[in-house]
Amino acid sequence: MLLYNDLFLNKEEVHISHEDRGYYFGDGVYEVFRIYNGKIFETEKHLQRLKRSCEEIQIQFPYTIEEINDKLLQLVQKSFVHEGTLYLQITRGVAPRSHVIPKDIKPVVLAYCNEVNRPLDKMQSGIKAITQEDIRWLRCDIKSLNLLPNTLAKQNAVNHSAEETIFHRDGVITECSASNIMIVHDGEIHTHPVNHLILNGVTRAVVLKLAAKAGFPIKEHPFDLKQLNRADEVFITGTTVEITPIISIDQLIVSDGKPGKITRELQNLYEKLITS
Ligand code: PDD
Repeated sequence: MLLYNDLFLNKEEVHISHEDRGYYFGDGVYEVFRIYNGKIFETEKHLQRLKRSCEEIQIQFPYTIEEINDKLLQLVQKSFVHEGTLYLQITRGVAPRSHVIPKDIKPVVLAYCNEVNRPLDKMQSGIKAITQEDIRWLRCDIKSLNLLPNTLAKQNAVNHSAEETIFHRDGVITECSASNIMIVHDGEIHTHPVNHLILNGVTRAVVLKLAAKAGFPIKEHPFDLKQLNRADEVFITGTTVEITPIISIDQLIVSDGKPGKITRELQNLYEKLITS
């Protein structure tokens, strides 16, 4: 079952035009939501970010937040997904190929759900990461369909028997190929501030709120590769990875190579939140 513009269709019934600007230019934006127990997690935050992404690239947001929220609730119900993800993208629309943005173009909305288990093993054992120069554009706050640098970076991690790539700009850590990153140093949590260099992660915000409530000091400021390599704990946050510890970076073990105490405490708080 897919949501295609205003219609709920089977996948055989969905026909995407070869002139969709998403296909030519990656001219569109997207969101990935988590479904826990048949309910969409943090819908409002995702939808507000989607609306903002649209506005930043001058795509007319085709619905009110209430309308799209209602459509997504129907989609989850019709898809019978209990634990999984919901993917939603909005492209600028269909028009003959031209770099100039056509007037009066109608956005194309596509959404569907998948049953996906939580990555519990990785959350428990931790994953390996590599580092790489962040070669993306300077508007990483927009959740754009243009993900070539991200997919290449992720593939580079896989080629190095790792699971995630940590980006840095001239040594300053920004985020990862598909997640945000936090480090713990002397009991303090450090993460890059929200600006044009990172995606304002929904999970990042949830985790920082939980951490603040639990009394952990938080510093939202840029930190560098040296601080990353000296960190007591390193973890990533994201809709699908939740809070996943990083246990080695560029083949160097982080601390004792096991998920850290504060990471595990935050995982427990997150678990309580999503099961409440
Ligand atoms: N990606 N940074 C980047 C570059 C991301 O692609 C993502 C998520 C995040 C974390 O954001 P959030 O907590 O809102 O999921 C940070 C999604 C899951 C994806 O592209 O599949």
